[in-house]
Parts: sequence; structure tokens; C-alpha cells
Amino acid sequence: MPSNASHHALLPQELIRLKRDGQPLPAEEIKAFVQGIADDRISDAQIGAFTMSVFLNGMSREEVVALTTATRDSGHVMQWDSLNLPGPIVDKHSTGGVGDLVSLVLGPWVAACGAFVPMISGRGLGHTGGTLDKLESIPGYDPYPAPERFSDVVKSTGVAIIGQTGNLAPADKRIYGVRDVTATVESIPLITASILGKKLASGLDALVMDVKVGSGAFMPTPEKSRELAKSIANVATQAGTPTTALLTDMSQPLAPCAGNAVEIVETLALLRGERANSRVMQVTRELAVEMLIAGKLVANREEALTKLDKALTSGAAAEVFARMVRELGGPADFMERSDSYLATAPVIQAVYPEQSGIVQRFDTRAVGMSVVELGGGRLRNDASVDHSVGFSEIVEIGDRVDSQRPLAIVHARTEEAAARAAAQLRAAVTIGDAEATADTLLQETFRGEA
Ligand code: URA
Repeated sequence: MPSNASHHALLPQELIRLKRDGQPLPAEEIKAFVQGIADDRISDAQIGAFTMSVFLNGMSREEVVALTTATRDSGHVMQWDSLNLPGPIVDKHSTGGVGDLVSLVLGPWVAACGAFVPMISGRGLGHTGGTLDKLESIPGYDPYPAPERFSDVVKSTGVAIIGQTGNLAPADKRIYGVRDVTATVESIPLITASILGKKLASGLDALVMDVKVGSGAFMPTPEKSRELAKSIANVATQAGTPTTALLTDMSQPLAPCAGNAVEIVETLALLRGERANSRVMQVTRELAVEMLIAGKLVANREEALTKLDKALTSGAAAEVFARMVRELGGPADFMERSDSYLATAPVIQAVYPEQSGIVQRFDTRAVGMSVVELGGGRLRNDASVDHSVGFSEIVEIGDRVDSQRPLAIVHARTEEAAARAAAQLRAAVTIGDAEATADTLLQETFRGEA
């Protein structure tokens, strides 16, 4: 029993008993418990009993803030002060989606506007794609640079998108592993502390959170998505990082493509200013506006929009992306010659609908799972990803489809895989006769209250 922190602390079973019986947990007891998890003094059984008691009894705002800060502080917390960067440290996190390449455009775009973005991204999870898997479509890109290299790239380029390394919020690694096998994932307090514990360990001045709603969302209902958005905005803000959460539509793929290399192709087009009013760019722009305002780089929305527009049309945002790729080991001429670097699938075929008509609805989760099955995601934790596969030119709700206009182009390893994915896509898209319009893209904004 080495540390002083544990000297006054309750025994783990006493803390679990309090939560089991619906009693409030003091912040310092939560802190000691979480430190015990990081130090391996608390067993998996105790973690499981704790997460189940939180799942059943919930947590007060104060308790979630304490769990979040304790998770954040359970390992290394990055410090940027000594670098004297001439701008704010800001970041974005999303609950994940399909065709959600927002991070790849957003990071370089706000960096081109004067922000510094140390973005720790994840791999694909369930039906959602992972920013890291997409970036690894770029030959040579190293998502695990040494810590000093990471801060050097953030300093010189304004943005570095990398993977989670060893000692960031280690308590969450254990807690999440136990939740996964004890039916305690779907708890708003636990999700809030898990996401923010990791995110806030990168030493941010401000954060924006993109919480998805709809058939491709992580949360099962719009009410739960709203609850999570509100929880994250308030808890992060109370933990000292001003945070805004946007509730955005994921009832169809956000970009017209889903996969890895196909999403990099789209990212490059968007960074070049093509399709500036597409759905994915509208969401990206809203998040960027919040980041520039929260980072005090602009006084208001109008100023933010002007600055963002300039960074896109001048080519500055594209240049930042190119530089990030180069600095992290990718080809120096990636922007100019991306075609010669990105993997292409052996089988590329149009997927035509069974009947002509208007696209009414998507089962977005099914589209994401189809990409996973093509090899674009993982069925097992340790599997590798096929960067070349996925869908491109996916239609949108309200589009007319027929024997001339396909639902999408499938990119597959084999004819059989292409046929299976085509059938899955046809089943995931509802065609009808009525005119149809997409759900509102930006549904709600939650500004954290301190
Ligand atoms: N993502 C996380 O990092 N944690 C959760 O609890 C859920 C999603």
C-alpha cells in the first residue's frame, strides 16, 4: 500500500457498497479508486461491480466530473505551455459514424486558421470507421511517433493526427475492457468519463464534440444522444475545458463514400475546396466555427466563416494536410500524386437498385457493417484492414436511382465479396415513390455550463 492517496481512502468494497446503495461518492474517494485501477490494486471483479452499480444507480454531475478528472489524471497529461504556441490548443471528438471523415478535413482546416490540434484518434469500432485506419491508407504515415516528435509536428504544422499511445488515461483501458464483457457499456456517466478522460489528457484549451443521431449513431435513440451531448459539454467544461457539443445527423452516410482509401480521396477533394457545401462540409464547418470561437481566434460566427472560407479557397488548409502527411512519414508529393499511392481494389462495380425510385432511408449501421465485412474494418481486434475496399459515390436521401444511376460503386477484393456487399447495400437502402428530404444536419448545440 504505497501511496498517501490510499491512506485515507475507503476500501474498494466500501466504495462499491456506497454506490450499490445509492449513496453519494466523495470526489476524493473516486480519485483514489481510479488510481487503484491504474495501479492494478483494484481487481477486475471490483471494477465490474463498480461499473454495474453506476450503470444501475447513475451518477451525479459532481461524481461524473470526479470520475472524468481522475481518469484523465490516471496517466500522462500533456502540457503545451512550455512550447509557447501562438494559438489555442483545441480538438474535436465524435461518437463515430459512417463516411465520417470530418476529422481529416477539420484538423488541418482549423490549424490553417491559427489553432493547434493534437488529435488522438481511434480505429474503427463496430460499424463506424476509424480516422487512424483511414490515415494508414497513406503509405509511410506513422500514427505512433515518439511524444517529442508529436509535439514538434503540432508546433510546426498546427495539427498532428495520431493514435493513442501507452500511458494516456490507463485507468480507462481497464475500465472499458471490463465494461465490454459485463454489459455496462451503455451508461451515460461511464461513456462521458471514458471519452473525456482520454480526450482531456491531451491538455486542451477547448473541445468540440460531435454527437451523432440516427440509424448510424452509436447511441440507440435521439433522446440518449441528446443526453450524452449535454453530459459531455457540461462535464468537460466543469473539468476545466470549455466544451460545446453538436448533435448532428447520421441517418445516412455523411460523405458519399465509406471505407479507408476512398475516404482519403474524398478528403483531398474537400480540402481543395471542391463540394464546399456538401453535407460533410456543412458539419465540418459548424464544428470548425465552434473551435475558432472557443479558442478565441475569432469574436463571432461571421468572422469564423470568413476566416474558414479564406483558409479553404487559398489552399492553406490543403497545404497543412500535405505538411502533416509529410512530417509523419508520408510521401512529400501525396497531394499531387495520391492516385499512385492509394491502394485500389481488384473489383470495382456499380451497384444498381432492384427497382427505380427515390431514396427514402438508409440503415446506416448496415452500410458500415458491410464495409467491415468487405475487409475495411475489423472482425477481430488483431485483424488488419484492407484499405482499398468500401463504397464510393453513395447516393443521398432524396436522390433518384434507376438502371442508369446506381446506389454506389463497390470496391472489393473478390467478385463474391462485391456481390455480397451489393446485396447488403440494396437491403440497407429503402426506395420509394415519394419525394424525400434528409433530416436536418445540425440538430442542436449544447454549450457547456461551468
Ligand atoms: N467510446 C469510448 O471511448 N468510451 C465509451 O465508453 C464509449 C465510446
